[in-house]
Amino acid sequence: MKKLHLFLMLALMIICGVACKSSKSDDSEKPEGKTLVLYYSQTGATKAVAEELQKQLGCDIDSIIAVNPYDGDYGQTISRWMQEKKDSAKVEVKPLNVNLDEYETIFLGFPIWGGTYALPMASFLADNILNDKNVVTFATFGSGGIEKATLDVAIALPGADVKEGYGVRNARVEKAPQEIKRFLIENDYVEGEIEPLPNFSEPTDVSDKEAVIFHAACDNYQFPLGNPVSVASRETPDGPEYEFGVKSPAPDGSETNAIIYVIAPQGQTPEFTRVIRE
Ligand SMILES: Cc1cc2nc3c(=O)[nH]c(=O)nc-3n(C[C@H](O)[C@H](O)[C@H](O)COP(=O)(O)O)c2cc1C
Repeated sequence: MKKLHLFLMLALMIICGVACKSSKSDDSEKPEGKTLVLYYSQTGATKAVAEELQKQLGCDIDSIIAVNPYDGDYGQTISRWMQEKKDSAKVEVKPLNVNLDEYETIFLGFPIWGGTYALPMASFLADNILNDKNVVTFATFGSGGIEKATLDVAIALPGADVKEGYGVRNARVEKAPQEIKRFLIENDYVEGEIEPLPNFSEPTDVSDKEAVIFHAACDNYQFPLGNPVSVASRETPDGPEYEFGVKSPAPDGSETNAIIYVIAPQGQTPEFTRVIRE
């Protein structure tokens, strides 16, 4: 009987030792934070980028859907958006499929409307505080706007750590897979190796040849993008890339400064990749 008692005590001590050890090691290791790609897309460009991000990050995905979708053509969408802006209307959106509490990092994507995030995203931001979460923006646009939109997201989410992420023109969405790969590796969102791009050269005056490249890239855009006044450049695997300092016409007729990036692959028409307005 005494032997049995001793044996049981010993067994209990061993079991307790193992259990205590494992619960201690569980406490000391932070659980791996989950990542979500969450986006609004009206015509599919942001959806394509969101799905590529989800694929490369290997994470969950969900979308914000307007109860009354913007299913008209471009002109109808512009008219409705202008009216809703004028009325300070809040566009109603459907509940999400996911529970946001489960996620530590959210890649938040939207099209740029009027220089910032689209209205359904504004509704989402008004209803969700995302405190203590990492928020990485991504966007598609006709010419640009992710910088200002990201500042606006940070204002809407003061308790979140908001960082600017990947942006691409809708005319270049097919370039997204390669560019997203570079973006995710360079910013340590995924592991991998990629040849770093060189820095741009010091800016100089624009040569005749560089002016031709600028105009070939920019003059077909639906809005005038202006004239280049300075240029820096670098070599990339896709060909030379230019960073033009530009005097650009503003919608009110005044002139503003902008930076316009242009890529000029060998034997192809140069393309502008992003406009950053001051
Ligand atoms: C109402 C409206 C406003 C827009 N405003 C801008 C803008 O200010 N700047 C810009 O670069 N593109 C603008 N665009 C173009 C969209 O950002 C672009 O088409 C985007 O890729 C659409 O994304 P989606 O296909 O995911 O809806 C606007 C489009 C709409 C419909």
